[in-house]
Amino acid sequence: MGCFGVIRAEGVTKIFGPDPESILPLLKQGKKKEEIQRETGHVVGVNNASFELEPGEVFVIMGLSGSGKSTLIRCINRLIDPTAGKIILKHPERGEEDIAAMDAEGLRHIRTHEMSMVFQHFALFPHRTVLSNVVYGLEIQGRDKKEREELGRKFLAMVGLEGWEDHYPFELSGGMQQRVGLARAVATEGKVLLMDEPFSALDPLIKVQMQNELIKIQQELGRTILFITHDLDEAMRIGDHIAIMDGGEIVQIGNPEEILVNPRTEYVANFVEHADPTGVITASTVALPFKAPHFEPAGEEGGLSYYVRHGYPDIRFGVDNQGCLQKLVVNGEEAALADLDEALARERTGPERRVDTTVQCNEDTILRQVLRGRAFTQLPVIVRDTEQRITGVIDEPELIHGILEKRGYALTEEAASA
Ligand SMILES: Nc1ncnc2c1ncn2[C@@H]1O[C@H](COP(=O)(O)OP(=O)(O)OP(=O)(O)O)[C@@H](O)[C@H]1O
Ligand SMILES: [Mg+2]
Repeated sequence: MGCFGVIRAEGVTKIFGPDPESILPLLKQGKKKEEIQRETGHVVGVNNASFELEPGEVFVIMGLSGSGKSTLIRCINRLIDPTAGKIILKHPERGEEDIAAMDAEGLRHIRTHEMSMVFQHFALFPHRTVLSNVVYGLEIQGRDKKEREELGRKFLAMVGLEGWEDHYPFELSGGMQQRVGLARAVATEGKVLLMDEPFSALDPLIKVQMQNELIKIQQELGRTILFITHDLDEAMRIGDHIAIMDGGEIVQIGNPEEILVNPRTEYVANFVEHADPTGVITASTVALPFKAPHFEPAGEEGGLSYYVRHGYPDIRFGVDNQGCLQKLVVNGEEAALADLDEALARERTGPERRVDTTVQCNEDTILRQVLRGRAFTQLPVIVRDTEQRITGVIDEPELIHGILEKRGYALTEEAASA
């Protein structure tokens, strides 16, 4: 079966009330949370949630208050018992284990060695020093004092709290306390980190610092992170995948760009409406595809095939037989082609935008970088694939549609003509 994710949730369901099992058939019939609550007084916390974490990724769960995020993450480490479903942990030696079916002994092992959790409200021990908070999990693991203090100091340094070892939590700001919580969670060296809105109480600048800290930890230590937030920009910044919850159900899972460009329900669309797309959407999504009917053949010359953009005869694109753009001719003058990143590194963009040079970017270049390119040149930005073949062109209309509609101009055009 190849490589599994670190954790796989299969149909995880949690119902609160006197007889949770009796509600499962109603969910199977397709009854919704509100209906069930009205008719039976039971609350559906999570309904049939399935997803898989890939090793080393940040998987974000998003949703409005009450949509079931905390309930779901608490089912994963069995702080609460799911009513139905499996939570498969893939262990390198022991193979697949179902956390939902595990006994107390097994759970203790999982919580001290495999998974740790960071809570929204710090949850530090007030009477322990910073260092002693951080090494708490290592104490439970039975590590000796010298070893755990070495590790504790290392992880404190990693979150920027060197020198604070002997202070008490009340002497620290909220952001610093949350760093201690983070150091404590990573110190156990468990592969999976569960984080329930860990940064929601922090002010925006500190929040971004903590996000960077977290990404660093995830990359350096190779942790797999399940992260809850209700802040979409946070989700987009740190998430490799995002699952959106509505009324206890996961309504969409995708990477940030998929969620932004293709929201599957109105609820998801409302969520993404105000998101900043410039760090998420990629060049290939907004580009006008380099093909008919957007581009028309305009003769051959010197071994190159020329094309013009429909309605813009003044810019001619000369492409070789490999599909690579070799010449750009603007009003009869040849323009230079530069690499976007190199051009921006080499030259400051000023009020004067170039008309004699344009830039080429990759298909996965983010919109923000393309915009910087457009500040450098008045000519269309060229998008090329990994084989250097031209695949699209980004001009003002594409940028405007990308930012305002969060989708490609060509897609919008095709949808309008369909
Ligand atoms: N112990 C409980 N007993 C009864 N109902 C509960 C319990 N815990 C949660 N619920 C219900 O389950 C649903 C999901 O709650 P949950 O705390 O998971 O939401 P959330 O998405 O984490 O919201 P928030 O963003 O406000 O933290 C809610 O309708 C809530 O009322
Ligand atoms: Mg919650």
